[in-house]
Amino acid sequence: MAKPLTVLGIETSCDETAAAVVRDDRTVLAERLLTQLDEHAPYGGVVPEIAARAHLTHLDRLIGEAMAAAGLGFAELDGIAATGGPGLIGGVMVGVTTGKAIAAVHGLPFLAVNHLEGHALSVRLVDAAAAFPYLLLLVSGGHCQLLSVEGVGRYRRLGGTVDDAVGESFDKVAKMLGLGYPGGPALERAAKDGDPARFSLPRPMAGRPGCDFSFSGLKTAVRQAAEALPAGDFAAGDLADLAASFQAAVVDVLADRSAAAMDMFARGAGVLPAFVVAGGVAANAVVRGRLEALAGERGYRFVAPPPALCTDNAAMIAWAGIERLALGLTDPLDFKPRPRWPLDELAGA
Ligand code: KG4
Ligand code: ZN
Repeated sequence: MAKPLTVLGIETSCDETAAAVVRDDRTVLAERLLTQLDEHAPYGGVVPEIAARAHLTHLDRLIGEAMAAAGLGFAELDGIAATGGPGLIGGVMVGVTTGKAIAAVHGLPFLAVNHLEGHALSVRLVDAAAAFPYLLLLVSGGHCQLLSVEGVGRYRRLGGTVDDAVGESFDKVAKMLGLGYPGGPALERAAKDGDPARFSLPRPMAGRPGCDFSFSGLKTAVRQAAEALPAGDFAAGDLADLAASFQAAVVDVLADRSAAAMDMFARGAGVLPAFVVAGGVAANAVVRGRLEALAGERGYRFVAPPPALCTDNAAMIAWAGIERLALGLTDPLDFKPRPRWPLDELAGA
């Protein structure tokens, strides 16, 4: 039997500093993650320079802790995978430089992982049955796309957002409603006991041909609804109802666009295809519930990674590194970090 592959993954593309050691039998040997909440909270959002500095401060220690917890030395690894983009360039540079240095010193392969590919393949770390091709709804802070995942490095984009990403709209609406940062989880909590039918909000793009998204008009509609409430009398019930109404509109749009993508997805005859939801917004229980029901109605197997694997983490980067390493898709040490890096520009196997 071939020796198992073990890879160290490094994630620094936004406000999570993370390191994980993962083996190709889908075992996460160790994982360390630090979310930079206190650093960015006073600004109501992620400040790129502060994020880069915090990654620099914490990354070496987190890698050391993950390696110690895995009980391995660097020389026992088979590769070093670091997020190579897309993301905040200062942070990506910290992760890539660290990864390259470890790879160079120990003579190991280096893997520059596309962060979106990390999200796209994360489901395969937890579900051995998630075979290619599958339909993927990728919903994160910076991206909102429907993709046909045809193999490692092989993505066909079916639709995407024409303005804001869905996570971004959660964050902006949460900020507008004074729910603070990070916005998505705060908005989900605020919506919990709210009436989703109280405010009538638009469902942008619903029913349109294709499967593109738009969220900026919905954000404006929430602002107008909030402004129409009596000034100074923004009761907790109003807040809950507005949050729930916004979340219901988002969920309706995600379900409508996903249904349209199911019509476009080339499913093989006789197989039950998987409908995978990944990225930070897939941590939202209402989103998951609705999309799971849709999948059932349309004859798809619904798969979503556990919430901790939906939001940014290093295990998904290590796993994507393992998938690429197994196919010989390694990267040179002069790889340049890429602030923008669409999935369909990836080299496939
Ligand atoms: O994938 P991710 O951790 O980072 C990016 O690659 O962008 O996604 C972060 C996004 C943020 O916009 C955050 O507000 C959103 O995911 N998010 C949520 C929830 N948890 C995270 N949105 C709605 N409900 C949640 N529970
Ligand atoms: Zn992400």
